[in-house]
Amino acid sequence: MKVLGIESSCDECAAAVVEDGSRMLSNVVATQIPFHAPYNGVVPEIASRKHTEWIYNVVKESLDKAGLDAKDIDAVAVTSRPGLLGSLLVGLSFAKAFAWARNIPLIAVDHMLAHLYAPRLVSENPPAYPFLGLLVSGGHSIICRADNFDDITVLGTTIDDAVGEAFDKVAKHYGFGYPGGAVIDRMAQSGDSGAFRFPLPNLHKGEHRHDVSYSGLKTAVINQLEMFRVKKNDDIKPEDIAASFQKTAVDILLRALFNAACDTGLTTIVAGGGVAANSYLRARLAERQDLRCVFPPLDLCGDNGAMIAGIGYHYLTRGERSPLSVNASARVMGFKKKYP
Ligand code: KG4
Ligand code: ZN
Repeated sequence: MKVLGIESSCDECAAAVVEDGSRMLSNVVATQIPFHAPYNGVVPEIASRKHTEWIYNVVKESLDKAGLDAKDIDAVAVTSRPGLLGSLLVGLSFAKAFAWARNIPLIAVDHMLAHLYAPRLVSENPPAYPFLGLLVSGGHSIICRADNFDDITVLGTTIDDAVGEAFDKVAKHYGFGYPGGAVIDRMAQSGDSGAFRFPLPNLHKGEHRHDVSYSGLKTAVINQLEMFRVKKNDDIKPEDIAASFQKTAVDILLRALFNAACDTGLTTIVAGGGVAANSYLRARLAERQDLRCVFPPLDLCGDNGAMIAGIGYHYLTRGERSPLSVNASARVMGFKKKYP
């Protein structure tokens, strides 16, 4: 069964064709980065306008690269939540029109669940459920238990900013470049991560054992840099700020993640979302011989249509369909943690 996947939740206009949930026949990602870079962040109005201009050609290219015609597609899967509302509506409206015109099923899918599905597109030995999910992107920092592709229980989340947002804001403040995560990761390779010692948030106990927080770190790096400087006499190098910030940002995630692994007894971790591309995060998790850590390849960490088509196939095989009246939603309530 060949599923067309469409993704337009943020600043990537993407479409892919995936056969039977795992064989990628094409995966086209048109990035809007150059259009948002002058503003050091995604401008929602520009994002939705670019999606409107690009969506037809992106979908066409995904069909061409797969060597297929519109009539060969069996179903359309599309991100309907969470994300920027105007951007989501472009992909969703296009997918509805495609499904209606071809008289094929429409499947509206959750972008974050799709990120968790991404490693299954390439792994010959996909991780068995249940596992621990680490969903880290520009808008989310979620540690969850995954019992199926559509069944997650949030164990921990951020109590303020998302981890990717912290990377983006620090990069923006210091003018490192955009998008912040990838730039800081690159700069950190030649920096000293011990040059600044930023404190970890006080969240390691009780109901917050699996939670993370980034507003304190952001304030420390942006407004109180001098306070946390270890080598007082050296010049401040931008690479050292990047490396020290990145180390602390990832250590915050890892403390909560390892607490969750310890408390649940789950030993497989699946990471997803843009921050899953981070090299320090990957290296630290690779050190843990007692855990199986599964990362998507770098080109499937960020937003893409293949993960949407892949997860969409599983809803289809269960006989599920979305009505053409399905709406986009900027937020997903289920991603809020329930405290006792
Ligand atoms: O999943 P994604 O492409 O879009 C959202 O759904 O948000 O994630 C984008 C986020 C941005 O905050 C970006 O700075 C971050 O992922 N990111 C990284 C890296 N590459 C992208 N953060 C840390 N290290 C990276 N190498
Ligand atoms: Zn994403």
